[in-house]
Amino acid sequence: MKPITKRDALAGAAALAAGLAAALASKPAAAARPAIPLGSAAEIGSYRSDPRYRAALAQYCDVIVPMNDLKWEALRHDRARFDFSGADELVDFALAGGKALRGHTLLWGEALPPWAKTMTTRREAERELVRHIETVVDRYKGRIATWDVVNEAIAFDPKPGEPYRDTIWRRLLGPEHIEIAFRAAARVDPGARLVLNDFNFEEPHPGVAARRQIAIDIIRKLKDKGVPIHGLGMQAHLYAENPIDRHGLLQFMLDLGKLDVDVEITELDVIDWKLPADAMTRDRAAASLVSTYLQTIVEARPPRAIVTWGLSDRYTWINETFPRKDAAAARPLPLDADYKPKLMLHVLQRYRRAAA
Ligand code: XIL
Repeated sequence: MKPITKRDALAGAAALAAGLAAALASKPAAAARPAIPLGSAAEIGSYRSDPRYRAALAQYCDVIVPMNDLKWEALRHDRARFDFSGADELVDFALAGGKALRGHTLLWGEALPPWAKTMTTRREAERELVRHIETVVDRYKGRIATWDVVNEAIAFDPKPGEPYRDTIWRRLLGPEHIEIAFRAAARVDPGARLVLNDFNFEEPHPGVAARRQIAIDIIRKLKDKGVPIHGLGMQAHLYAENPIDRHGLLQFMLDLGKLDVDVEITELDVIDWKLPADAMTRDRAAASLVSTYLQTIVEARPPRAIVTWGLSDRYTWINETFPRKDAAAARPLPLDADYKPKLMLHVLQRYRRAAA
């Protein structure tokens, strides 16, 4: 195994710069250079208003993920009627540019319209969930190749005996909520890649090891029951101040391989709220962290795709969700707010498919 650059975002700019230089300069072995499509989530408001955003999506992405427009909140604002307007626009854009699509997401405890939060019975929840999945997957059959069928089902900091996140789906449908969703998606589009998507599998913390084990258990149970599941989506919202558990992550990749499921990186960005203000220091730390993370995964098995949660620092959820104390804008993504490539982009492109 190749030694990995030590990453510690707070260890000082010099160490980070040296680490990054080594990461960029090292000639990756053939196994470290797989053909991996790159992509980004696309947000409809910015897509509609900013031609430079559209151009960047066209230029840098092999894969597009509608960021919010396939969520229940967007599609099911009205209980009786589906609104596909935003999703259709992004799907058409992606396909016209020869890009693949990931669908995000069919079951999630968040981003629900108000009416969905008032469901009270198992019968009602199952009826609505299955109808939703049938309608949405059927509409994009043959166009959206991969679905995040279930998003964030694993408990944040799992307690013994309760592996699942407390959501309306878990409450009304029990542990089978996951299975119900996967079965419904597979029935409608047997050709689709069906993925369980979740966050934080990478930090050296006992709660994170528990989360990895729960993911393995969920996938094994689905497989044992003959429920189709093809991949694990790892969101990878990486906290710059926390180290990567290389050993745990590598072992996780091997365990997933034994279960015959692929992995994909689905929402990569770097939460830089605790880093020093200097932009170059932050960009180096972010690129170095992403390099360590991806290299660890690729050493075990190449992911099916690497998708960042946005492309340019101009538009990112990190500003609202993880604001900096100094109120400086976050720098979590591969392009800066003016669409200039950052060091992170170079790291990502090492993994991009040769033909792109
Ligand atoms: C975020 C979007 O980026 C925001 O625009 C929106 O306001 C809230 O949701 N995990 C997920 C994503 O699975 O769907 C979330 O996206 C970020 C965290």
